[in-house]
Amino acid sequence: MSVPIELAEQRTKILEASRYVLSRIKHPPAIALILGSGLGGLADSAEESTAMPYEQIPHFPVSTVEGHAGVLVSGKIGGVNAIFMKGRFHLYEGHPLESVTFPIRVMKAVGIRKLLVTNAAGGVNADFQPGDLMLIRDHINWMYRNPLIGRNDPESGVRFPDMSEAYSASFRSSVRQWAGLNGFSLREGVYAGFLGPTYETPAEIRMARKLGADAVGMSTVPEVIAARHAGFEVLGISCITNMAAGILDQPLSHEEVMATADRVKDDFARLVKGIIPLMEDTQKGE
Ligand code: HPA
Repeated sequence: MSVPIELAEQRTKILEASRYVLSRIKHPPAIALILGSGLGGLADSAEESTAMPYEQIPHFPVSTVEGHAGVLVSGKIGGVNAIFMKGRFHLYEGHPLESVTFPIRVMKAVGIRKLLVTNAAGGVNADFQPGDLMLIRDHINWMYRNPLIGRNDPESGVRFPDMSEAYSASFRSSVRQWAGLNGFSLREGVYAGFLGPTYETPAEIRMARKLGADAVGMSTVPEVIAARHAGFEVLGISCITNMAAGILDQPLSHEEVMATADRVKDDFARLVKGIIPLMEDTQKGE
């Protein structure tokens, strides 16, 4: 059967981007990391690194948000060959869904099957505090959009992907164990993805809490859906940068988000460097 033209074009774009990336990297990466708002600095601690600005990678979208640099960095972290997205694409920037998920498709073509996705998020769970790090147990897609809408490319994944373990149970158990052994305080909870770019209203936050959310943000959900579709095992970490709307008697701001992410960057780096080797070692279903 011949391949429909739009799928053939998309395959070509993914292949061209992945060929470029492979031509620039020294060691085949085992893990991809997506670094959220204010957390991009972690890529600077990668050893033997190569930086590829997004605009140099064929067909790669370019991010527009302050705090999101727009560079793909390959290098070693915690002794593991990895590739970092320093800057991601949000739906609220006006990117089409294919752009938000394009990097995941490219990572797959590069040969990667494990993803660590991170984000800045508002704390919905009233027990949380700004500066907490949260292991994502599951997510709620409140973006009213799904990146897999449209014709499915069977080369990318199945038409109806299972999402019952969007965030790998074996990764989560390894991370919990690591945190326990290392005296690292880690929250765990459900991330709700809203479209943004407005922060939520207090009523939306009360709704989210009642319906089971512990944290809210404007990213992650589309990438994780695409990653699961593509057969990745996923680990997610939220940095609780602020309490969500209506919890404290103060307005929310991007400055607060960036300041908290900056304040916890050392803890965040310690956590990632600790858990990356466990992710590399963990076999599916372990
Ligand atoms: N809401 C949505 N996105 C966010 C928040 C928030 O409170 N904090 C950081 N990203």
